[in-house]
Amino acid sequence: MSIPKGNIPKQNQLFYGADYNPDQWQHTPEILERDIELMKQAGVTSASVGIFAWTVLEPQEGRYEFAWLDCVMDRFAQEGMFVFLATPSGSKPMWLSEKYPEVRRVNKDGRRDASGGRHNHCMSSPVYRAKTAQMNRALAERYKNHPALALWHVGNEFSGECHCDVCRINFQKWLKVKYQTLEALNEAWWSNFWNHTFTDWSQIPTFDQSIDGLTVDWLRFTNDQHISFLRNEMAPLRELTPNVPCTTNFMGTHEGTNYWEWSEHLDIISNDLYPMPDDREETWKQSIASDFIHSLMRGMSGGKPWMLLECSPSSVNWGQINKLKRPGVHRQEVLQALANGADTIHYFQWRKGRGGYEKYHGAVVDHEGSDQGRVYKECAALGREIESLGSLCQHELPQADIAIVYDWESRWALNASCGPKAAKVIHPYPSDITTEACQGHYRALTVAGQSVDVLSAQSEFTDYKVLVIPALYMVSDVLSARLQTFVDQGGILVGSYLTGYVDETNRCHLGGFPGAGLRETFGIWNEEVDYLHDETEVSIVAELDETYRYVAKDIVEVLHAESAEILARTASEFYNGSPIITRKQAGAGAAYYVGAKIGDDGLSQFYQQVLSVHAIHPKMRMTLPKGVVIRQRESAQGTLAFLFNYKREVQSIDLHNQTLRDLATGDLLRGHVELKPYASHVCVVDI
Ligand code: GLA
Ligand code: ZN
Repeated sequence: MSIPKGNIPKQNQLFYGADYNPDQWQHTPEILERDIELMKQAGVTSASVGIFAWTVLEPQEGRYEFAWLDCVMDRFAQEGMFVFLATPSGSKPMWLSEKYPEVRRVNKDGRRDASGGRHNHCMSSPVYRAKTAQMNRALAERYKNHPALALWHVGNEFSGECHCDVCRINFQKWLKVKYQTLEALNEAWWSNFWNHTFTDWSQIPTFDQSIDGLTVDWLRFTNDQHISFLRNEMAPLRELTPNVPCTTNFMGTHEGTNYWEWSEHLDIISNDLYPMPDDREETWKQSIASDFIHSLMRGMSGGKPWMLLECSPSSVNWGQINKLKRPGVHRQEVLQALANGADTIHYFQWRKGRGGYEKYHGAVVDHEGSDQGRVYKECAALGREIESLGSLCQHELPQADIAIVYDWESRWALNASCGPKAAKVIHPYPSDITTEACQGHYRALTVAGQSVDVLSAQSEFTDYKVLVIPALYMVSDVLSARLQTFVDQGGILVGSYLTGYVDETNRCHLGGFPGAGLRETFGIWNEEVDYLHDETEVSIVAELDETYRYVAKDIVEVLHAESAEILARTASEFYNGSPIITRKQAGAGAAYYVGAKIGDDGLSQFYQQVLSVHAIHPKMRMTLPKGVVIRQRESAQGTLAFLFNYKREVQSIDLHNQTLRDLATGDLLRGHVELKPYASHVCVVDI
């Protein structure tokens, strides 16, 4: 990597802008000119251009048309704005897709996609790889010295899988490299089960739900194919524009993409996030779920700035219900991203298109076209505010004391294993136990006033005081040894239900769960696990604390304390009295285990006690109610605090003797403060 992660060389400001599709408006030059005017007025610094513009860039094979893009790049440069130039691989020109059908994906049933749609190319296709590399070379040749070019936006939201013959053969080759022999593969996949022993590499399919080791390897392979495709796209860009950073836009905790691995190949981490506040749910929890995803991005960029490359300025159009954001919500979501280390806020989309699937998706500029709309005015006001926060570029996010491990491979292994309680499907995103468990612990720690970093299972975690591994189902011997070392060196480890069941091939550990040596680390044996109906509740009571009475739902493990102390027990069901929260002290370190899915209040109280026993205090000591969150960014000039009320109700807080000065209003906040619904304050901390 030639450029240090997290820096756009031209940046001395926060970037503010949107996905911009001038390619759809080529025949109305007056609209393009009006766009520039409206952008200037709204404080826009940059736009992502050309994401789905392949056909207008190459209307016929080998014939390039850059005039329209020259004009956009030049106009942006004249106005002192920047372009995040996209490579257009996210959707294929009709001429290409029809002439070379092999670029289209094949589904599990062996049916090739029709031309059309998007994000549906075969990642293995030599033709598609060659065509995208040629296109990217042409773009880089043309714009390598252009002053507007600030960043390469490579493709768009890569995802999905292809089951064509080329992909299948590549999968078999990938397996051969990994396992060397069929004996090793059959052993890893436990192939004697249901006669799945492979006697020739060519027999191996891309899909068989009954071989859960295969499923995990297929996901790993597909992930590698995406990365290899991405690298193929970046090769000409890196060669011709070594100083222009490359990113590709992530989708948070998207199922099939192990972004920890992708992030190794990118210069800057960027993410798209569309929180879907729902009045029927507690919206503050969803806001903390967004914080979790922001922390994940910060983890991937090694604590350096990252980019929110897409969010909607108002509603989306693809949900079942597409509500407008309530007053204050959008500003809060934007400031939340900045509070969590983002240095860029971009929207999807700048202007609503006249036709097609996304014509009703929220945009800064409506079909009406003026600067009089509510959304435009709100975005323009935010643009001015973001401009005034430019010094945030110099503000780092302090490393937290506490980290949570979020591991895609473990999630894949759990989801591929038939048995653990099925994950619910929450439209439009499938939920899953790993993400829910990680977000639950993150939320409880947030309520306890703590900042939390999110790490991969491979990250260095020795610097942290507390390491939380919620539902870390897949644990190798190497990882288990690192966890033991962490505790031996004085770290506080917190494990939860579904930890340490399988090894890296998704075979169960023998010798009792949690396996791979974690039985010793936690000092417990998890003999059985009870998966409950939604309405079933199991009572939990603490050993020494009368106030600790909660219920567990969904998943309850039947534990035995071997060398651990029992902190709480179950108080109902036939396993009534079995340990459910335990602690094994090891020198200055300790390993806690929470063997059931305990609700938010129970988990928060657990953490409050753990943190107080180990004297781990929040950086700013103040009493905050649930749904009020404070975050800090620091620089040599001082600390900026972001204070949020994520709830729809007024909330009162006590700042004790801390004084905050709101940058937007100049107001001083001290003592008892009433926070309005969705209030967001960016404050200087006066100590
Ligand atoms: C994704 C895509 C965009 C657009 C938005 C709509 O994030 O990257 O092109 O379709 O969704 O929400
Ligand atoms: Zn394919």
